[in-house]
Amino acid sequence: MNIPGSSADIFYLAPLRGVTVRVYRNQLARFFAVPDMAVAPFVPSVAGAKVKPGLLSDIDTALEHSLPLVPQIIGKDADQLRVMLRAFKDLGYARADLNAGCPWPFVAKKGRGSGLLRDADNLARLLEAGCEELPGGFSIKVRLGLKTPDLLLERMAILNRFPLREVVIHARTARQMYEGEVRLDDFALAAAACQHPVVYNGDICSVNDFNYLKGRFPQINRWMIGRGLAVDPFLMESIRAGKTAERDSERLRLFLCSYLDACRKELSGDNPVMGRMKELWSYQQAGLVQGRRIWDAIKICRTVEEYCRVVDSAFRHPPRFKDDLSRLAGYF
Ligand SMILES: Cc1cc2nc3c(=O)[nH]c(=O)nc-3n(C[C@H](O)[C@H](O)[C@H](O)COP(=O)(O)O)c2cc1C
Repeated sequence: MNIPGSSADIFYLAPLRGVTVRVYRNQLARFFAVPDMAVAPFVPSVAGAKVKPGLLSDIDTALEHSLPLVPQIIGKDADQLRVMLRAFKDLGYARADLNAGCPWPFVAKKGRGSGLLRDADNLARLLEAGCEELPGGFSIKVRLGLKTPDLLLERMAILNRFPLREVVIHARTARQMYEGEVRLDDFALAAAACQHPVVYNGDICSVNDFNYLKGRFPQINRWMIGRGLAVDPFLMESIRAGKTAERDSERLRLFLCSYLDACRKELSGDNPVMGRMKELWSYQQAGLVQGRRIWDAIKICRTVEEYCRVVDSAFRHPPRFKDDLSRLAGYF
C-alpha cells in the first residue's frame, strides 16, 4: 500500500443521503469539532448535455460550506459521467468521487453503485473518463464485493491502472447492506493490494473503535465516518482528544434547534422539514439513554410544532448520553 505524505490522520464525513446535507454539515461545524472534509451525498448522472442546477443545489459553491467538499456521482455511463464532472468543474471543484458502493438491489442490479464492480470493462471506462476529466482529483468509494468479499480484490488490478486520488473502502459486501460485522481481514487484503491511498470506512462509532482500527491498520491514515457522527456529534472531538469528550446535552439541544431553524429557512412546508428531522433522529436516538422513547414520540409527529413540543419536553430533564457506543467491541 502506498500512502505518501504526512502520517497525520485525515478524517472525512461520509455521505449519508438525506442526513449529511449542506445545512447539516454547516450546523454540525458551528457546534462541534468536525472531520477535515466531507464527501457530499451522491448526485445521479443524467442523460443529455445539460445538468439542471437543482440537482447540484447541495454542492452549489455560491452557498455557504463550512467543510471542504468532494462532490460524488452515481451512474454507469462514461459519457454521462463526463457531463456531470464538467458541471462539477464549472462550480469550481477539482475533485470528485464515484459511488461504487451503493448496495440497494434496485441500484446495483442496474449496474450502478456497487453494481459497477460486476462489469470490469465498464468500470475501466468510467475510471478512465474520471481521471481524464479531473487529473489528480478523481476517487472511488467501493465495497469489498457484492455477495462475497473478494470481488474488489479481483478488480484491484483495474483500479491500480488509473491515477486515482484515493480509494474509499467500506469494509462490507453489498449483500450486508449496512449491518453485520465489518470484514476487517478482507479489508486488509484489499488495502494491501491497492496501490492508491486507502480510506477506511465502516462502523467507527467510538474512540475505542478508532483506536482499535488504528492499531490494527497502522499504515492507514485516512478515515471516513458516517453514522457514528450522526449518532454522537461529539465523536470527532472525542477521537481528536483520544478519550470520550465531555458531552453536554445543552450543546446538543442548541445544535438541534439551529438545524431545525436552518432547515425551515431552506425548505418550504412542514413535511420536508420533518423528513430531515426524522432522518437525523433515526440515528441520534441511538446515542441517548432515553433515545428510544424520544424517537417513538418524534416518529409520529406530523408538524414542526408537534416536533418542537417533543424535543422541548425531552430536554426539560436533560437526556443522558450512552457510555459506550462501540460497534467494533467484538474485535477488541
Ligand atoms: C442513509 C444512508 C445514506 C447513504 N448515502 C450514501 C451516499 O450518498 N453515497 C455513498 O457513497 N454512501 C452512502 N452511504 C454509505 C455511507 O457513506 C457509509 O459508507 C456507510 O454508512 C458506512 O460507514 P459508517 O459506518 O461510518 O456509517 C449511505 C449510508 C446510509 C446509511
